[in-house]
Amino acid sequence: MLNSLRPVARTHHSLRRGIPAARALSSRASTILSALRIPAGGDVPGVYDGQWGGTGEPLVSLCPSTGETLARVTTATPQEVQTALEKSRQAYVSFRTMPAPRRGEIIRQIREALSTKIDALGALVSLEMGKIKTEGLGEVQEIVDICDYAVGLSRMMNGSVISSERPGHSILEVPNPLGVVAVLSAFNFPVAVYGWNLALSMAAGNATVWKPSPSTPLCAIAVTRIVAEVLEKNGINGAVAGLICGGKDVGEGIVKSPDVDMVSFTGSEAVGKIVGKAVQDRFGKSLLELGGNNAAIVMPDAPMHIALPSILFSAVGTAGQRCTTTRRLYLHRSIAPSFIERLQRAYETVKIGDPLVAGTLLGPLHTQTAVQNYQAAISAVRSAGGEILAGGTLHTPASAELQNGNYVLPTIAVPASSDPKQDIWSKETFAPVLNVAVFDELEEAIAMNNAVPQGLSSSLWTRDVRNVGKWIGPAGSDTGIVNVNAGTSGAEIGAAFGGNKSTGWGRESGGDAWKQYVRWSACTINFTDEAPLAQGVSFDLDK
Ligand code: UN1
Repeated sequence: MLNSLRPVARTHHSLRRGIPAARALSSRASTILSALRIPAGGDVPGVYDGQWGGTGEPLVSLCPSTGETLARVTTATPQEVQTALEKSRQAYVSFRTMPAPRRGEIIRQIREALSTKIDALGALVSLEMGKIKTEGLGEVQEIVDICDYAVGLSRMMNGSVISSERPGHSILEVPNPLGVVAVLSAFNFPVAVYGWNLALSMAAGNATVWKPSPSTPLCAIAVTRIVAEVLEKNGINGAVAGLICGGKDVGEGIVKSPDVDMVSFTGSEAVGKIVGKAVQDRFGKSLLELGGNNAAIVMPDAPMHIALPSILFSAVGTAGQRCTTTRRLYLHRSIAPSFIERLQRAYETVKIGDPLVAGTLLGPLHTQTAVQNYQAAISAVRSAGGEILAGGTLHTPASAELQNGNYVLPTIAVPASSDPKQDIWSKETFAPVLNVAVFDELEEAIAMNNAVPQGLSSSLWTRDVRNVGKWIGPAGSDTGIVNVNAGTSGAEIGAAFGGNKSTGWGRESGGDAWKQYVRWSACTINFTDEAPLAQGVSFDLDK
């Protein structure tokens, strides 16, 4: 049925590569960097352990929109990684005894400091990551929001008192700080995901060490400077919120270090598997937020006027580079032709270009590798006999400044087979490629939703409460985020964020996520002069 829908023609250009980056930084970039005191072009220190430093091989921060070099960032040598981790452990030893509400007060000050810089930080996220400015601002808002949450949490990280079966005894479940928490974050949310971890970890009394993605070090430096200023002003050891920029070797040094009690990792399933095993090998704790291969299901009774724009945002927003991006669209057969026609028209009018310019809805992909993955996904659909209903090619914006950016057209694909076990459906491509299939019964759509290895987010579009019951119940969606009449992406901070199955089972942000950032003790306290044993066991020397 979908095969009869022809793509609407759209002019596109191939990417022109090989043009050397301009020597002087563009004014669009230098204005943003100078607002945050980041020296353009020079080597910026990328390690903070109470002092700024790092003498390792520099990373290059490239602008995905223009291809220009924004700055070079120094990394940590293996020795500097160890030193930074040791300093964080020392910082933890003094920080853990500070009363939690007092730690909350520090988080409140961090929140205030971040909120005065929302515009500058949001612009930097847009510049270095490539997401559109409104999403960059939203991401900084997300770190502000989680700080607010953690301020409250600092007075509510409650344990419990349990009735004992023995007279005059009490059992307490007590949360205490865990130690050093390492946060290995991804390029796609270069600020917010660290924020989720930092705010909870700090409220819990830990030292936190951040290793950002090697391609977004400037966002990490800008945030760490703001946090460090607050810590230093309050006489707190800066290594309570350390930063270690670097590549794979730095990541390995952190993951394998016995100085790190918990590793919170966001990234691919492939790397997550390595990280999870390495942490398990030394019986550390890990919190994994890996692949998302999220589906939206549209029933015939769906509120189409909100379903369409929401699915467009979830599939095309952030250039398809959210873990929560909608990658699979299941349409009920009765509404599929009309829905796809409207969606196709919407795709054709999405404004592509400089993510810093108001009105742009689709910025560049983050890297050239992402562009190659986009192309590979489209070739896979085509070579298996599928159709491309919109997009499917690279895009060169008209502006001369953007010629070396990583632009692609948002794509709607109809794979020849809807078998969810096929690679096209079961593997995640981090790009704006939406695969579409039709279904007849809700049960069939739920089965397809659940058939992939990943389990992060999903959404059902319907007005029928009976469908909602099926969707959120035991035979419903198996993902960590299960929405109704709301897109798969764009979660608020209040609920725990994370996914099941190969997404890694981790939970960050709100809900009960904080409980992972503490160590729990069950403490039985005897207030009497007797020593009765539990379960009535008798162990008496005199009998
Ligand atoms: C991610 O893609 O890693 O729910 C995080 C969302 C955002 C966070 C996404 N609040 O889409």
